[in-house]
Amino acid sequence: MKIAVVGTGYVGLVTGTCLAETGNHVTCVDINVKKVEAMKRGELPIYEPGLELLFHRNIAQNRLSFTTDLAEAIADAQIIFLALPTPPGGDGAADLSYVLGAAKDIALLLKEYKILVTKSTVPVGTADKITAVLKANTNVEFAVVSNPEFLREGVAVDDFMKPDRVVIGTTDERARKLMGELYGPYVRQGNPIIFMDERSSELTKYAANSFLATKISFMNEIANLCELVGADVDMVRKGIGSDDRIGKRFLFSGIGYGGSCFPKDVQALAKSAEDNKYDFKILNAVMDVNTIQKKLLVQKLKAYYNGDLKGKHFALWGLAFKPETDDIREAPALYIIDELLAEGATVSAFDPEGMNNVKALLGDKITYGTNQYDVLQDADALLIVTEWSLFRTPDFDQIAQLLKSKVIFDGRNLYDLQKMIDCGFYYNSIGRKI
Ligand code: UGA
Repeated sequence: MKIAVVGTGYVGLVTGTCLAETGNHVTCVDINVKKVEAMKRGELPIYEPGLELLFHRNIAQNRLSFTTDLAEAIADAQIIFLALPTPPGGDGAADLSYVLGAAKDIALLLKEYKILVTKSTVPVGTADKITAVLKANTNVEFAVVSNPEFLREGVAVDDFMKPDRVVIGTTDERARKLMGELYGPYVRQGNPIIFMDERSSELTKYAANSFLATKISFMNEIANLCELVGADVDMVRKGIGSDDRIGKRFLFSGIGYGGSCFPKDVQALAKSAEDNKYDFKILNAVMDVNTIQKKLLVQKLKAYYNGDLKGKHFALWGLAFKPETDDIREAPALYIIDELLAEGATVSAFDPEGMNNVKALLGDKITYGTNQYDVLQDADALLIVTEWSLFRTPDFDQIAQLLKSKVIFDGRNLYDLQKMIDCGFYYNSIGRKI
């Protein structure tokens, strides 16, 4: 099939590349001239494991190309994916100006029936809004489809190539057939393509992310309670996770959820509920718990240093909001750094992929390491912020030698409690004994 993808951000680029991988011809279009030029030269603008190989292979086989010209991109396309940003507006609701703007541009170029698919996470009712924009600007037939993405950064290629499910929201029969054919090769293992109406599909995306965020906030509260009653959250997690109805995954407590999806989507769903005069009590609690959790490590530090962090120097392992990504959007590390600097402390940080993004944001407000050990020199304590595999089995002797005192605050519960006692560290983690 011939496909156009509008927007070459994270979702657009993964979608376009993975759709080319099964033999489709994909043209990705973006208004950012520099970015498009770079991609034409074969430079991948994001870090995502496994993507580079597919990106180069499909460019080399002429199935994946890039342009800044929307008319050129959509000329032959049967299906046009919209993968444009929907940032939170001032009131917390998703800002649809990019999506609706592109819909209008496309409408003015339409010459024959095409399918317009929203990949971006958009509020319920957006398909209707896009339909209205198209109807106002063209007489040509079209279909609008909601096809939310469920990609996790770090494993997005796998998630796209072997999805748990594909959700397609459309009431247009022609679109249903074509979208089913497009996704057929990705669900060969028997995972379902779930067809539904546009509004249910749009809400499915928000419900999925908000449910997962709820799981995390719930476990973070259990962890906080564990510390008060002398229980171990890792044991509780195993104890409840082995019940199939609860499931083992997404039960890890830590220092709050971050990234470009959960915070934005939970907020947008709460706003949508409010707009519909529905008081979605759980969602508000999920957000409140997360706000507190992101500052937990600093609260713990303050308690340890009798409320005074002035002049203290901390080493941070991890800046990205999670491992296997360079994404620092809504990363707990940024909140922690902000608070530490405000308290008069200094910070030296290392992250395998996220450092350039933090440098661009914070410049020399903090210092950066070339490896995980050189940030430890003369630090009062080590803070574990992102659970990169690299940090899981470090050289504890070297840590002990470099730190001013043998103190570790671990926001990701990476180390065994007994091992830490044996190594002589003061070790403070989340929801476990000290
Ligand atoms: C999330 C969803 O998992 C994807 O299904 C969805 O497509 C995507 O958002 C999106 O809407 O685009 P992502 O933001 O890449 O994916 O990251 P996750 O792996 O889901 O992690 C989100 C946050 O939850 C991270 O801050 C992570 O540290 C935290 N988390 C995750 C926990 O604190 N505990 C856990 O057990 C799992």
